[in-house]
Amino acid sequence: MKFKGVIPVAGFGTRFLPITKAQPKEMLPVIDKPVIQYVIEEFLGAGIDDILLITGREKRALEDHFDTSIGLEMLLKEKGKEKVLEEINQISNTRLFYVRQKERKGLGDAILHAENFVDNAPFIARVGDTILASQKNPLKELMKIYEKHKKPLILFERVRGKDVEKYGIIDGEKIGGGLYKINSLAEKPKPEEAKSNMAIIGVYLFDSRIFDCIRKTKAGVGGEIQITDAINLLLEDEDVYACEFAGKRYDIGDPYSWLTANIEFALKRDDLKEDVSRFLKGLDMN
Ligand code: UTP
Repeated sequence: MKFKGVIPVAGFGTRFLPITKAQPKEMLPVIDKPVIQYVIEEFLGAGIDDILLITGREKRALEDHFDTSIGLEMLLKEKGKEKVLEEINQISNTRLFYVRQKERKGLGDAILHAENFVDNAPFIARVGDTILASQKNPLKELMKIYEKHKKPLILFERVRGKDVEKYGIIDGEKIGGGLYKINSLAEKPKPEEAKSNMAIIGVYLFDSRIFDCIRKTKAGVGGEIQITDAINLLLEDEDVYACEFAGKRYDIGDPYSWLTANIEFALKRDDLKEDVSRFLKGLDMN
């Protein structure tokens, strides 16, 4: 079964101002690679190479990153930097599609921009500002489940009680095989009203049935067309499943999470781990 990939990257990134004023948050680096590159590599690793980015104003750096840079390539060749040249060529050879969301009307509206591109194929919509570190490629896992059950799917993570108001929260029941059947979703509920601590983390496997639901969805929390509201409409006619993400998630749009990602990734790199751990051990914590 052939799947397509959709990455909404049109958000403002207000949690990371001022760096995100004229710079996409998806270009924030973890060590030396922008977060969007980790995301694209995850799609390619799952065998999905038909990928659409839903972009917006101030997001041109994303397109430039995946474009050819003839001057740079010539320079690296002249200097004999073959290894880095190979890496740069690989990035430039990534084929991506782009469409602009002209008004920032919410994640649901952004995903609706993918309708012509996905052309009735099942697709994974995945936000472009998180890194999912895990042993198994989480997108591959979702695809396997979809091939078996043919149900739209949502990836979730359990969060601390007070954090539920930052997420879409799942009300669902366990059906075995690590899967949950969703009853309903609530967008950013108050902790005392949340039905669970199962938080949506911006990774969805949909088929084209979602588009009509988005079209019918009215503006919700924050005046935005919320994908959670569209999924609630989908639930009136279809089963939607959820499965738990087995790994560690870094929300790079959040300064604290970005910082911890940099430290943890540095501690895994042969060229950095010694210096970084010496630096951390020497920190004055008072
Ligand atoms: P966020 O809720 O993280 O919003 O969007 P944001 O603007 O990107 O960041 P903050 O909260 O202000 O710091 C979740 C995902 O939905 C995309 C964003 O790019 C992000 O990947 N999105 C959101 C759109 O593509 N369009 C929208 O209109 C809204």
